[in-house]
Amino acid sequence: MASVKLTNVKKVYDKNVVAVHDFNLEIKDKEFVVFVGPSGCGKSTTLRMIAGLEEISEGTVEIDGEVVNDLQPKDRGIAMVFQNYALYPHMSVYDNIAFSLRLKKVPEDVIYDKVTKAAETLGITEYLMRKPRALSGGQRQRVAIGRAMVRDSKVFLMDEPLSNLDAKLRNQMRAEIILLRQKLDTTFIYVTHDQTEAMTLADRIVIMKDGFIMQVGSPDEVFDMPDNLFVAEFIGAPKMNIVKTGLVCENGKYYVTPFGAKIAVDGDKGEMLAERGVKGGEVLLGVRPEHIDLAKAGEDAIPCTLVVDEMMGSELHLHVDTEDGTRMIVRVPTIDISKEERKALVAGAKLYITFGGKAMHLFDPETEKNLLA
Ligand SMILES: Nc1ncnc2c1ncn2[C@@H]1O[C@H](COP(=O)(O)OP(=O)(O)OP(=O)(O)O)[C@@H](O)[C@H]1O
Ligand SMILES: [Mg+2]
Repeated sequence: MASVKLTNVKKVYDKNVVAVHDFNLEIKDKEFVVFVGPSGCGKSTTLRMIAGLEEISEGTVEIDGEVVNDLQPKDRGIAMVFQNYALYPHMSVYDNIAFSLRLKKVPEDVIYDKVTKAAETLGITEYLMRKPRALSGGQRQRVAIGRAMVRDSKVFLMDEPLSNLDAKLRNQMRAEIILLRQKLDTTFIYVTHDQTEAMTLADRIVIMKDGFIMQVGSPDEVFDMPDNLFVAEFIGAPKMNIVKTGLVCENGKYYVTPFGAKIAVDGDKGEMLAERGVKGGEVLLGVRPEHIDLAKAGEDAIPCTLVVDEMMGSELHLHVDTEDGTRMIVRVPTIDISKEERKALVAGAKLYITFGGKAMHLFDPETEKNLLA
């Protein structure tokens, strides 16, 4: 059990590479926090500073209210699981999991209890006598997690633990991490560059870019109300469509005017714009692919041409070009399309798309901040 607090944490590597700028975050006891962001944004560096594997250039890291900047990793009460498992190849699974306990001179009968309990939790009891090379990637990953589990740590740190696994196994292990979290009842800090992993695992997501925090929020918050364009495009797959367009205000009602169409901004959002005194002008309009519908010609419909259709099973991903050549992606549930309609969806087909005012996100083209956040 532990809270973790980072205050004005900064990391400067030699040659003045600033990997993390002014990182501020309070993680509550038993919270599952995920750091997510593109390669090189400073996720691992931040995690390694919490673990004590990387010196903190400025600021403080506290665990349970105690500043740990100068504590050795082993004295911080943390356990860490890495991407590459780092198992000892010549030792059995049992000995791998027992390793840190033996270093601490824990009695063998206590070690036996802990190792067998962890193995049971992880479903690897039958492999305890095998060497790591005789295990699959997912099984090895579980051994690595088991090794961290037996240490009775206050905080569990995981750096891309699933990225070496194939897609199917990754899904399965993701579910197992959710279960593990329920069983361990401890604080988790988890690093990934995969937004799906972040969305499915996290209580709160920290989205990072170039060493800066772009937003902290629950999966719902960052999805429904991204603070800025970066978060809007990073969270959600396929990514949000972004179009530069006009925003007009007529008789107190707001409309966006993408590609000559005129689409009313939903009441609540319109009210917010009015409250903030937004006059209209150029905006970046964001609409998620799943919020766009195929439509009939009309004032609120945008004519376009189908370029590619991807059949994903339960849904179609339609890549369409508007008349000025802007590429947009539309997600349509297959179940909503009749056989006749499906036949007509071939490259070159002329379509109309539309979306409701509720589904819109509006960003300032200069600052890229959400006008409604
Ligand atoms: N030892 C080092 N010396 C100098 N620069 C480093 C060092 N380690 C990392 N960096 C730089 O710090 C920045 C952040 O690196 P970090 O490993 O934290 O990124 P990351 O978000 O974990 O990326 P990835 O998703 O690729 O693992 C990068 O620009 C990286 O090149
Ligand atoms: Mg990393």
